[in-house]
Amino acid sequence: MNYTEHFEKIVKEQLARVEELKKAQEAPDFSSMEKIVIGTIDGDGIGPVIMDSCRSVLESLLADEIASGRIELRRIEGLTIENRIARMETVPSDVLEEIKKCDLLLKGPTTTPGKGDGRPNLESANVTLRRELDLFANVRPVVIPEKNINWIFYRENTEGEYALGSKGVDISDDISIDFKVTTTAGTRRLARAAFEYARNNGNMNVSIVTKANIMKKTDGKFLSLCMDVAKDYPEIKVDDWYVDIMAANLIDDKINSSFGVFILPNLYGDIITDEAAQLQGGVGTAGSANIGGRYAMFEAIHGSAPRMIEDGIGEYANPSSLCRAAVMMLRHAGLTDKAQKLETALDKAAEALDMPGDGSGNTAADFTEYVLKVL
Ligand code: IPM
Ligand code: MG
Repeated sequence: MNYTEHFEKIVKEQLARVEELKKAQEAPDFSSMEKIVIGTIDGDGIGPVIMDSCRSVLESLLADEIASGRIELRRIEGLTIENRIARMETVPSDVLEEIKKCDLLLKGPTTTPGKGDGRPNLESANVTLRRELDLFANVRPVVIPEKNINWIFYRENTEGEYALGSKGVDISDDISIDFKVTTTAGTRRLARAAFEYARNNGNMNVSIVTKANIMKKTDGKFLSLCMDVAKDYPEIKVDDWYVDIMAANLIDDKINSSFGVFILPNLYGDIITDEAAQLQGGVGTAGSANIGGRYAMFEAIHGSAPRMIEDGIGEYANPSSLCRAAVMMLRHAGLTDKAQKLETALDKAAEALDMPGDGSGNTAADFTEYVLKVL
């Protein structure tokens, strides 16, 4: 492989992407929209099981809005691993076209073929969708009332190690190189979103998490840009941490409740948010919002759990994480009362039901029945 040509090509692609980033897209004003189209994407593995449950819940919660035509729940078909492999497209183009006709998206988990599992090397559908829809902020709240923990993570969602994750090079048998990208526009818009959230929610502390002592260019740039944006928010207390010690801080009960808003580059955000979700009760309990300019996509933070399907216990999948994502979606659309109502019902379900995910306890159908009853 001619790697100098390859390098030149990806640098040019990234320079072109940055020019696109600079043309900021307006977020839709949901309150003035006549109709809001919510696309639901099942995904793979346990995806259809938990989406079934979540759709039933939304159909009941939004019955009036759906009847009046203000809201449409639209099923988007075809984002399955089988169809993606058959088409050899990470997100088949006709599916992407349908997705782009929606205003909001609720997405189940999609399977990513791993190296060595015998399937073609498709890129992750999540990563592709985040990039195609330019969903730059991955927002993940973690709340643990008994520990007084109220965290919200602003993970950069389109850059870092993910920007060129499938464009690394095997230079020879002896050496492989991947790339990591930080852009000024990409970092600033994420930092701005996080600081705005901190300000609008009672000036929560903001912690910037990098490894800028080692990744001097990319993380160094990320940190200094976040610090620069911080100057516009003088009332907010800001600190910066390296990701390794932050991983330790999160499990230190002496200090973890002092953190509020976190700003992180993509990969550290991926890892740290799984850790945080586990402290809250497991990755099945946390929702995740992917926010861009024109589009926003809401999803469970966990994967498609193919093992549960292989073991024949798919019906025991826990729809909580996807339903929590739906709460975030309703809030994003300004449907605050509906969001609150659903959140309360989910809290009650978490108390009342036992869903360890090992084929014992309550099923997704029990969950649906319980939540519908509370609603
Ligand atoms: C997440 C997931 C994804 C990621 C995977 C499925 C590509 O782990 O949303 O955190 O790495 O971002
Ligand atoms: Mg992850």
